[in-house]
Amino acid sequence: MCGIVGYIGQKKAYPILIKGLQRLEYRGYDSAGVALINESGRLNVYKAKGKVADLQAFCEDKDITGCAGIAHTRWATHGEPNSANAHPHYSASGRLALIHNGIIENYLALKEKLVARGIPFKSVTDTEVLVQLIEHIMLSNDLSLLEAVQVALHQVIGAYAIAILDREHPDTIVCARQSSPLVVGLGTDGDFYLASDASPIAEYTDRVVYLNDGDIAVLQLGQELKVVNIDNETQHPKVKQIDVTLGQLEKGGYPFFMLKEIFEQPACLRDCMRGRINVEADRITLSAVIDYREQLISARRIVIVACGTSWHAGLIGKQLIESLCRIPVEVEYASEFRYRDPVIYPDDVVIAISQSGETADTLAAIELARRAGAFVFGVCNAIGASIPRQTQTGVYIHVGPEIGVASTKAFTGQVTVLAMLAICIARERRTLPETQYEAMVKELTVIPEEISYIHAEGYPAAEMKHGPIALIDSEMPVFVIATRDQLYEKVISNIQEVRARGGRVTAIVTEGDTQIQKFADHIITLPDTLECFQPLIASIPLQLLAYHIAVCKGKDVDRPRNLAKSVTVE
Ligand code: G6P
Repeated sequence: MCGIVGYIGQKKAYPILIKGLQRLEYRGYDSAGVALINESGRLNVYKAKGKVADLQAFCEDKDITGCAGIAHTRWATHGEPNSANAHPHYSASGRLALIHNGIIENYLALKEKLVARGIPFKSVTDTEVLVQLIEHIMLSNDLSLLEAVQVALHQVIGAYAIAILDREHPDTIVCARQSSPLVVGLGTDGDFYLASDASPIAEYTDRVVYLNDGDIAVLQLGQELKVVNIDNETQHPKVKQIDVTLGQLEKGGYPFFMLKEIFEQPACLRDCMRGRINVEADRITLSAVIDYREQLISARRIVIVACGTSWHAGLIGKQLIESLCRIPVEVEYASEFRYRDPVIYPDDVVIAISQSGETADTLAAIELARRAGAFVFGVCNAIGASIPRQTQTGVYIHVGPEIGVASTKAFTGQVTVLAMLAICIARERRTLPETQYEAMVKELTVIPEEISYIHAEGYPAAEMKHGPIALIDSEMPVFVIATRDQLYEKVISNIQEVRARGGRVTAIVTEGDTQIQKFADHIITLPDTLECFQPLIASIPLQLLAYHIAVCKGKDVDRPRNLAKSVTVE
């Protein structure tokens, strides 16, 4: 939620910052801003309501020189999306500029004290309180920026990733992280890049440092990266190799990321299974299951925690795990789980599913489960994100960066990993006969080819899975997944009920089905597969349907209204 970019070095900062914001726009896109220190030491801040393109237009006739800068794309929490509330925020004297992801929970109390001391505010954001607090501490105690940040953060309750520029020290950016991700890129000329995820950094350097909670980093041109905590103790985060390629961050000829990501699914699912499924031997090997076999096979219960689309993948995971492993599974919204004081047993296994690995509610659910002594297993896409670092073990889905806000390839990747996990655990628990195990492994490997041959067209439609039948009339298109499974006959009855009320039915059926054609207005055929893998295939025409409807309606497919790709606040 919200994107942060920063650069300090010999190159011009503005183009790097704008490109970085474009890469991060999926994190929030209601307003954007940039702060730059020009060659005469002036700190310029430019902000605009709307998308990054609006900021660029606003900056056209402005002084955008300078080799040090920070920039932000916002998803509003406190205060409407307008230019006053957009980041960066100046300090009262204009000496500092600050950008922030997260929420400062005690901002009102802090603001009251600052207002009482005569400090003026230009916005209604929690973020402006931070910059005023830091400057006030710095000036009234004659401290360095780093020292003032340390004192200020002692007073702050909440989540933040912040970056600050000080016009008195144009060679330095100070940044800090608490519950909101921040990555520092180490350039080749002593220069530094900064971002809320690695995507804006990937084209400049492959060496990055993922800051940990409580870290404060000083990015000083030509100096080693300095990382301390709020008590000024030196921290030693590891330098990691970046895992993102540029091609993964571009649309590659597609009009939208969503469409690209839908069509990437065959390749992504192969990547997801690569090194894990041995086709010759009909075997699945997940190192997490080997290393933590006892905890997994003796689980009394599995609780899946997740949000959004990842939660829906969890529902399919429940089906797979319960039917194959015979372990009871509960699927919980992480946001509910964290606050409802759930019963958690030490022999529970909690599976946290997250594309971004940064979802605040899922992270809080993990923390709760760990404190209760449960074994926590992560299913994540973003390498090195907080969730893989805070779970005992897990499996990456390896589908590459997903930029479109509507999740497509991450969903099928999650389901694929959950299928592999269920099959592995079931084999270890001997709840899956060997012949069935081998058949399932074989079937899973052919899923990527099947997927690529499905053709589907979008019709203006509304989803009616569990909607009241009273809504049905000739204006109501109904999509029915009617693949061959145990409930096939019951689904046919449902179709007839819809037809009896004048509803128009599009049925998604298994290849060779002749029965449903008699009742449905439109048919989309899917290749046959094992019943437990059907959701993987059936989701593809539905993804395309959603995509085409959005295109027909002239919507911004990749950035739906009010949403953000990564929800790092609760
Ligand atoms: C946001 C995104 C969804 C995503 C959900 C959970 O709402 O727009 O696409 O499913 O967060 O995110 P996660 O990264 O934890 O899977």
